[in-house]
Amino acid sequence: MTPLPRHLLPDTAAVGARGRLAIGGCDVIELAGRFGTPLFVYDEEHLRIRCREAVAAFGDGATYAAKAFLCRAMARLVHEEGMGIDVASGGELHVALAAGVPAARLVLHGNNKSEAELARALHAGVGRVVVDSHDELDRIEALVAAGSPPPQVLIRVTPGVEAHTHVYVQTGQADSKFGFGLVSGAAADAVARAAASSAMELVGIHAHIGSNVFVLSSFTQAVDVLADFVVPLALPELSLGGGLGVAYVQGEQAPTITEWGAVLAKACAEAGITSRLSAEPGRAIAAGAALTLYTVGTIKEIDGIRTYVAVDGGMSDNPRPVLYGSGYEAFLPRAVDADRPRVVRVVGKHCESGDVVVADARLPPDLAVGDVLATPVTGAYGHSMASNYNKITRPAVVFVADGEARVVVRRETLDDLLALDA
Ligand code: LLP
Repeated sequence: MTPLPRHLLPDTAAVGARGRLAIGGCDVIELAGRFGTPLFVYDEEHLRIRCREAVAAFGDGATYAAKAFLCRAMARLVHEEGMGIDVASGGELHVALAAGVPAARLVLHGNNKSEAELARALHAGVGRVVVDSHDELDRIEALVAAGSPPPQVLIRVTPGVEAHTHVYVQTGQADSKFGFGLVSGAAADAVARAAASSAMELVGIHAHIGSNVFVLSSFTQAVDVLADFVVPLALPELSLGGGLGVAYVQGEQAPTITEWGAVLAKACAEAGITSRLSAEPGRAIAAGAALTLYTVGTIKEIDGIRTYVAVDGGMSDNPRPVLYGSGYEAFLPRAVDADRPRVVRVVGKHCESGDVVVADARLPPDLAVGDVLATPVTGAYGHSMASNYNKITRPAVVFVADGEARVVVRRETLDDLLALDA
């Protein structure tokens, strides 16, 4: 049975003389001791390299989808590397602005933006609003009539393309809560309305077909479908959203951001689209940059059935296995290159059986209580979807680089759990 494939580890991962894992020059077991577990450890260099790759591929149109992982340090890093930021709520907008990112570098998303969210965004001067409904157009018109500055907008279109991915994260199909349908003519109506409105400047079209998409032809198919609509409009911008998949487990290979960008650019050129292309990768920037460290608390062998290995986190720090049946690898940072012949179920500490971290994890035979166990590729939609279920406190997040570790999100305390009680 094979050791953990190295390509699932962050870019600066290195294995020391004793077989122990270091990220960003920091020994991972020492990080667990110093900051406690569960702990998200992000490789800052990995994040920066992915941002630079996106900027090389999409120029000014490279926009990080903050929903994948956001805190002020992350917003600053992404901004420093030249990416804009897609914020999908007033909360994400608040964090990005609090980080000091200029509003002009922000793109506001959301299928049900409230008047308050829109008002804040317009007053702050966000770079783009991606309009999702006629009700939103009404709200923008009312706000501008009442004195808000008129925004530059993109109209979000659902192209009627079903991306090859989990149905919960497909968004391009006609039956969708997002955007205006292309096939029904709703998109054309919305474009006509926005173009005629003095309350906004229509600058482009937006389409996002889904998330964790590995098959680049899903994207080119969307471009082909959009071309007939987009070309005659001759608007300056076209955003193709995010959605590039990443490898989570052994055997998976995902296209790089560079490959994705090249395929999108070629498809647009061939379709006669001359608009400036932009894209909103979230997962492809953040997922592989981080791993989660847990401590093994109990090992329960059920004869003839399986072995349960319980760690000190679970569905509250990574709900993806429960939500989407997502798979992860597990390994021991004290023995990165060890064979992993022992098949166990890694579970969390929540009160339900669905609280699975890795259904069939492969681990070294000498796995023991007290071991630090890691799951790689947890940098996207892990901390950002974390909850307080069972009043378990959310983990801390550390960024590591050049042998230094800094806490960018502190661990929640028990008193934090009381902070919202009235
Ligand atoms: N742009 C828009 C308009 C989006 O809706 C999304 C993701 C993105 C960009 C970024 O997509 P990415 O590059 O990260 O795939 N919680 C799910 C993923 C939901 C994605 C929602 N929208 C998961 O854990 O897989």
